[in-house]
Amino acid sequence: MRSLLFVPGDSPRKQEKGLEVGADALILDLEDSVALAEKPRAREVSAAFLARMRDQAGRPKLYVRVNALETGLTEDDLAAVLPHAPDGIMLPKAEGGVSVMHLGARLAVHEAEHGLADGVTRILPIATETARAVFALPTLPGASPRLSGVTWGAEDLSADLGAETNRGEDGAWSAPFQLARNLTLMAAAAAEVDAIDTINAHFRDLDGLARECREARRDGFVGKMAIHPAQVAVINEAFTPTGAALAQARKVVAAFAQSPGVGVVGIDGEMFDRPHLRRAERLLARVG
Ligand code: COA
Ligand code: MG
Repeated sequence: MRSLLFVPGDSPRKQEKGLEVGADALILDLEDSVALAEKPRAREVSAAFLARMRDQAGRPKLYVRVNALETGLTEDDLAAVLPHAPDGIMLPKAEGGVSVMHLGARLAVHEAEHGLADGVTRILPIATETARAVFALPTLPGASPRLSGVTWGAEDLSADLGAETNRGEDGAWSAPFQLARNLTLMAAAAAEVDAIDTINAHFRDLDGLARECREARRDGFVGKMAIHPAQVAVINEAFTPTGAALAQARKVVAAFAQSPGVGVVGIDGEMFDRPHLRRAERLLARVG
């Protein structure tokens, strides 16, 4: 998934609009973009949307961001949406593998109740929203086969740290938030799942977004969350492997295939060894 667009769970208009903008996934949000009094209505609106879209060919993947486990709201969120088989659940304020396992156990119950195959509902945790969560990142690998990726959040972490801001004057993440970002990347790689970059809240600054996407791709992220339709095309472009990158990856794979058992090959005057082969294979796997 390259682009994951948040749509407020209580807005049929934005959910409809979200279908048209080319996002790889929509995240129907029942958490922070929905006021407490509106949660019941947001559950109904999101459930109806999921029900209607369930069998539509060519639709984006549909995830639901539920309320955090400690709010006491999660169970009602799951009860509302699981009958309509969302592709996955985004778990905010996740604190490592324990939170993922906890959600996984609940999902298994709902899947059984609704005749869904055990384990089909994926989990995408926002894994850095508290300091405790950052310390728990190493417990994500192996926590659950449901894990589809790992993403991170800076806003709630700012609040938890008591930080005045999370970006420097140049717009780049300040050090504590770079740490959270970079550890997310490590946790995703260790868990062998997708690393998904966090949102950029400045939705009119598409140049700034493009720069942040390039930096994320350079470092190993394979997608990014969006909050506004205008961000989706920028994200898709940045995270779609270029023809040149794919051609190069095919060359590397072909060179190793021609010489089975060798550890290193030369292509066009450059050395390629096993890590290059692994990187090439991963890139090709992403485009299927
Ligand atoms: N998904 C789908 N459609 C969206 C959208 C979104 N996330 N954000 C905006 N749109 C739609 C608007 O409804 C509008 O369409 P319309 O004219 O047909 O009604 C169009 O895109 C242009 O919107 P714009 O006027 O530029 O923005 P806005 O001021 O209406 O909305 C936000 C700004 C930030 C409130 C809005 O983008 C939003 O709700 N984003 C998601 C917030 C969220 O889910 N946050 C939680 C995760 S951090
Ligand atoms: Mg939040």
